[in-house]
Amino acid sequence: MALQRTRALLLLLLLILLGLGLVQPSYGQDGMYQRFLQQHVDPNVTGGNESYCNLMMQRRNMTSPQCKPFNTFIHEDLQSNHSICSTANIRCKNGQMNCHQGVMKVTDCKKTESSRAPNCRYRANASTRRVVIACDGNPAVPVHFDK
Ligand SMILES: *[C@@H]1O[C@H](CO)[C@@H](O)[C@H](O)[C@H]1NC(C)=O
Ligand SMILES: *[C@@H]1O[C@H](CO)[C@@H](O)[C@H](O)[C@H]1NC(C)=O
Ligand SMILES: *[C@@H]1O[C@H](CO)[C@@H](O)[C@H](O)[C@H]1NC(C)=O
Ligand SMILES: *[C@@H]1O[C@H](CO)[C@@H](O)[C@H](O)[C@H]1NC(C)=O
Ligand SMILES: *[C@@H]1O[C@H](CO)[C@@H](O)[C@H](O)[C@H]1NC(C)=O
Repeated sequence: MALQRTRALLLLLLLILLGLGLVQPSYGQDGMYQRFLQQHVDPNVTGGNESYCNLMMQRRNMTSPQCKPFNTFIHEDLQSNHSICSTANIRCKNGQMNCHQGVMKVTDCKKTESSRAPNCRYRANASTRRVVIACDGNPAVPVHFDK
């Protein structure tokens, strides 16, 4: 009996915490964040060439079942520093207002015309340019690369 009551109380407590938004079962958003990090963040280098694109596109799982035609790697530690998400909101390509801009070191990887999966080949353009990313959640984290 005592055990059942304890369980009931714990359940109630959990429901209250969920209600207050202190516990977030937001797998969707966390998945988006993880995917963003996987596809777009590499703080290990400051810029990459063709070999870098060819290797990283494969390593980060963007070459199967098809070659992703275009992808940008950001060379900033967006995993430990989400401060871009605190900058002013701007409009995303899809019209939503949860985008933010910043100037960052990036490598743009663009698939060559003739290459086909699984042998995806890329041209690289390393630069420091304005990027736009969407943030979501509380605290806000990057979830989507806009441009
Ligand atoms: C950065 O390099 C280290 C050591 O080579 C590696 O363990 C780590 O996975 C790399 N980080 C990223 C984000 O690629
Ligand atoms: C690309 O960069 C790597 C390391 O920075 C270098 O070893 C390699 O020779 C470069 N490859 C090309 C094709 O420029
Ligand atoms: C890439 O995909 C394979 C198979 O789907 C998976 O086993 C692997 O963990 C993935 N790698 C990354 C870095 O997500
Ligand atoms: C976090 O990133 C911003 C730029 O996005 C930079 O100005 C700031 O110095 C960084 N903070 C830390 C602690 O690295
Ligand atoms: C490389 O990126 C820079 C910055 O976005 C851009 O101005 C330039 O046109 C790009 N070069 C090529 C060859 O795409």
